[in-house]
Amino acid sequence: MSSPYGNFVPRPGTTLLNRISSGLDLAVIESILATKVIGRAERAANELWAEVDSTNSRAALLARQGASEGVIVLADHQTAGRGRLGRTWVSPPGTGLCMSVILRPKVLSTDLSLVTLAAGVAVTRAVEITTGVTLGLKWVNDLIIDGGKIGGILAELQKESRHQESEPASTNTFDQALILGIGINICKGNTEPPEEIRDKIRWLEEITHQPVDRNQLVSQIAFELEQVLAVLSAGEVTTILDAWRKHSVTLGESIKTQMAQETITGLAININNNGALVVQTLSGTRELHAGEVSIRKSDGSYF
Ligand code: BTN
Repeated sequence: MSSPYGNFVPRPGTTLLNRISSGLDLAVIESILATKVIGRAERAANELWAEVDSTNSRAALLARQGASEGVIVLADHQTAGRGRLGRTWVSPPGTGLCMSVILRPKVLSTDLSLVTLAAGVAVTRAVEITTGVTLGLKWVNDLIIDGGKIGGILAELQKESRHQESEPASTNTFDQALILGIGINICKGNTEPPEEIRDKIRWLEEITHQPVDRNQLVSQIAFELEQVLAVLSAGEVTTILDAWRKHSVTLGESIKTQMAQETITGLAININNNGALVVQTLSGTRELHAGEVSIRKSDGSYF
């Protein structure tokens, strides 16, 4: 008998659902989706988990199993959520939106900055349309509100080897999938974040003062994502960068970043066509392609 989970055997405690208590409902999301591809994969179902290790890991597994572009994986709670630079992404039950999308772009750069910036633009538009709240974007992947982090983007490349039955056993076809993960803090509830990050994080409902319609938000993110990715694949990078600049909380600010051998400080003056942050330092202009920047506040501290 075939499992409702395909080849994936959920560990005890994990549940694949249609609807969860925070209001996320796959049937509702699918009925309001205005996309062509995202959320509309033909040979694989979108998923909603009460609890999963990481929606990015789950989406990567589905991609390895051959799931087509567009599959959305959602979870109410992640037990091993990941952030950039090896960090943990914590999202207690009911408090956040954890969403990953399988993408299969035809040309795939290993520099994921542009796609991360484009996804930031998409989420910003979706949040604004759904809630009326305007987010800021901090290079490269942070969603900011009121001087604190409300969410983040994690773009990961999944390189897979897929043996074609029609080909000799020694032949492998390499397909690449890009897993785009989005985490948004929606409501704090009665959770207490660790002391060291307490004043650095924000929740969307702290600003809206009313419940956020998560189904509408997911559906709008899917739509906006599809739009920005189409613009990106048409080569119109400047359109994305201009949209990103409008929401930037990084450009024009004094920043600091820790590289392997040195600390760079300077003024963030631009992002270039590869999505790198251009910083004016005392010793000249530097381009940052990876890492994390901290922005200098008026009291001299950094966030
Ligand atoms: C960051 O700010 O460093 C990125 C955070 C990305 C978190 C999301 S939640 C959904 C998806 N699944 C994960 O394990 N991570 C991303």
